Amino acid sequence: MLASASQRAPTRYINSTAVTLSEVLKVAVSVLAIYAEARGLGGAARTVLATLLGSPAELLRVCVPALLYTIQNNVIYAALAHLDAVSFQMAYQLKIVAAMLAQRVLLKKPASYARWVSVLILTLGVCLVQLSLKEGDGDGGDAAPAPAPAPEAASADEGGSGDPAAAAAAAAAAGRSRTLGLLACLVACGCSGLAGAFMELLLKGSTLSLPRRNLQVAAISVLIAAFHMLNRDADALRAGGFFQGYTPLVWAMVALDAGGGLLVSMLLKYSSATMKNFAAPIGIILNCLLSFYRDKSFKPNKRFLLGTAMVILALGMYTASG
Ligand code: C5P
Repeated sequence: MLASASQRAPTRYINSTAVTLSEVLKVAVSVLAIYAEARGLGGAARTVLATLLGSPAELLRVCVPALLYTIQNNVIYAALAHLDAVSFQMAYQLKIVAAMLAQRVLLKKPASYARWVSVLILTLGVCLVQLSLKEGDGDGGDAAPAPAPAPEAASADEGGSGDPAAAAAAAAAAGRSRTLGLLACLVACGCSGLAGAFMELLLKGSTLSLPRRNLQVAAISVLIAAFHMLNRDADALRAGGFFQGYTPLVWAMVALDAGGGLLVSMLLKYSSATMKNFAAPIGIILNCLLSFYRDKSFKPNKRFLLGTAMVILALGMYTASG
């Protein structure tokens, strides 16, 4: 989620180009993985063709998560244009609940009360951890500076330590609407939950290898994302080109987005749509602790410690009640 920080470059990059480029990268990585599996150019080419053209019915099924993920990726950029990163990260945690609901409805996986409680504890715990990363956390004397590896905190200035009325006026003047941002975030959560459950179904219910499934999803997503890009941003593209506003930070964001997406599909195959939501909070916490032990650039405060305890408790409850 480097998007909100990277949108501060003097020339704005076009969101839809970043989404499209990230899907192109996923296609490239998936083809490379198929090549590594096939150990030969001819075999790899045949596998790629069979994956993309061999079964139209299978490809049609993949369209559902691909479309949901493309909507999700686009509305995330829209939400970040309207919300500060911490508010976004907190609202976006509702995707954990959405994943559980989608698993219940689509995969008919009933969940015990303990699992529901653990998911709610996880959601609250992540919100607390995100809040603790907010610069100028009003927690008295033990306020922590935002750790360097959490670029989300870089845009958390407008809802934070200053006068809320002044912040709201500044946001309105800049054309930002919190309501629109939160709505976009809710749409992203719904898409995340539904797409995750659907993808889990596709990944676990077939003999197709992970790179081949990823190639199908990414290829369909490239088409949808490119169509959306041309439909929406044709004028801007003609005026400034595809790579306008691309700084190293934007490239890093695109690469992280692509790499993160492929890791998500791995998590969906080998764990579950709900379980994968534990990975990000644990990653954030480990990142903060690393900053603390490495150079003390992060000082854990009460919120961080409570949020961390809740995430660990939730993980324990979730796995123990399986
Ligand atoms: O936030 P959430 O965990 O739902 O994000 C899922 C991300 O994983 C999306 O950005 C989606 O594009 C990506 N993904 C992917 N390839 C898959 C499955 C998910 O790139 N096969």
